[in-house]
Amino acid sequence: MESTGSIWKATAEVEQYPPLAGGARADVCVVGAGIAGLTTAYLLQKEGKSVIVLEAIGVGSGETGRTTAHFFPPDERYYILERKFGTPRAAMIADSYARATDLVESIVRAEGIDCNFMRVEGYLVPQVYKQIDPIEREYVSTQRLGVPVEMLERVPDMVFDTGRCLRFGGNAQFHPLRYLDGLARAFVARGGVIHCGSRAVGIDKSGAEQTVRTLDGHVHAANVVVATHTPFNEKVVMHTKQSAYSTYVIGLRVPKNAYKPFLLWDTGDPYYYVRLAAIDDDPDDILIVGGQDHKTGQDEVPQHRWHEVEMWTRNRFPEAGEVVYRWSGEVMEPSDGVAFLGRNPLDSDNVYIITGDSGNGMTHCTAGAMLVTDKIMGRENPWEEIYEPSRKPVHGIGDFATEQANVAQQYTDWIKGGEAESPAHIAPGEGALIRRGMTLYAVHRPVEGALQVLSAKCTHLGCAVHWNSAEKSWDCPCHGSRFSTTGEPLHGPAVTPLAILSLPRD
Ligand code: FES
Repeated sequence: MESTGSIWKATAEVEQYPPLAGGARADVCVVGAGIAGLTTAYLLQKEGKSVIVLEAIGVGSGETGRTTAHFFPPDERYYILERKFGTPRAAMIADSYARATDLVESIVRAEGIDCNFMRVEGYLVPQVYKQIDPIEREYVSTQRLGVPVEMLERVPDMVFDTGRCLRFGGNAQFHPLRYLDGLARAFVARGGVIHCGSRAVGIDKSGAEQTVRTLDGHVHAANVVVATHTPFNEKVVMHTKQSAYSTYVIGLRVPKNAYKPFLLWDTGDPYYYVRLAAIDDDPDDILIVGGQDHKTGQDEVPQHRWHEVEMWTRNRFPEAGEVVYRWSGEVMEPSDGVAFLGRNPLDSDNVYIITGDSGNGMTHCTAGAMLVTDKIMGRENPWEEIYEPSRKPVHGIGDFATEQANVAQQYTDWIKGGEAESPAHIAPGEGALIRRGMTLYAVHRPVEGALQVLSAKCTHLGCAVHWNSAEKSWDCPCHGSRFSTTGEPLHGPAVTPLAILSLPRD
């Protein structure tokens, strides 16, 4: 059971743009053409800035194409955010979520983007039927914060009895790649520039400006925005503050109009999340369900997680039919539960980052674009103090310590044996680590063709990558870098390919 790719990639035609060749100059260089990067580019262009967007692969090729594209409240409960940060800052988060969702709606309208944007009811339900304590605590907190929430005995008209739940107002959903394509086209139509196939590999200060380097060119800019899901531009600091998790999604056929559009998520950790999608003239609706998160690179045969999501779904939605989509995404979880939006802590004041999506990428990325736009335009932004990237992880110190211990543990791979003694033990289509002396080789046996032999040493900070049998990739268990079977980076922070090697004989 391999990934089929996301429903969004299967149902959108996304315009791509030519690579950068040589040098260029702009007021702002944005790195990454996902929702964070293109929303930032769009907003800054509206402010009169010239903007060049550099994208390593293609528009929407990263996590924007792998999200489930819901706009619902933070996955860290408001009562926990209040306890950690205090009521005024928790209220800032609620405000940022509401305004980010409003902004997307206004862009859809202003640009006439056909992306099925709709406001929908959103329900937080208990993971276990009678476990209502977190529901009640969340209700009390939302009332204090002024978040529009009702407590109900169950989700109305839902096919299964959810138990006591909260109905949130102000949620939304859309088709993320159709939105992104519309955003990109609007930006380019007004003179914006996007270069695909142009991986940024470094940022250098040059006088008051920054220079973003790619393999085939460079961009000089007064400001740089790194919107690459996890920052590639510094090796350590931000990668100790957040951790990479993989999440598993399926799309199942359900009869048209069997359910009204809704969002639903539960109080589990990890939690399940559900939405509906109606695509064009498909005779069925697609029920999209995700969950079963685990640390990236720390489950080599994760296919069972799709099965677990399916079982959870079938126990609750008896109308669910065939599974027609199956994919995984990656989530960056900040140790204190709050995204990092603003100035990059280690740079001078003209490099910005948008990261720490925490499973709410649509909202965080849009809020990040709004905040960074304000910073570059020299305006105060009311959310700065809560999302400040340089903050210490004091409000998540337990999770921080646990995650650092987990990363340290991954380096012991270098003193362990390999997973296979020789390539003969690797099934077609699979991969495994093979040790020869002090070297670990990442070996993939394609269904057809020659063995692909790479160094197992992640080009970020040297952990050993692990095979991902579901996505057919090499995933790093330390900070979430992912590589193709030929070694090309699929997800940062690594930007350099795994080295191609030859496997010595036994
Ligand atoms: Fe950091 Fe691999 S992602 S060492």
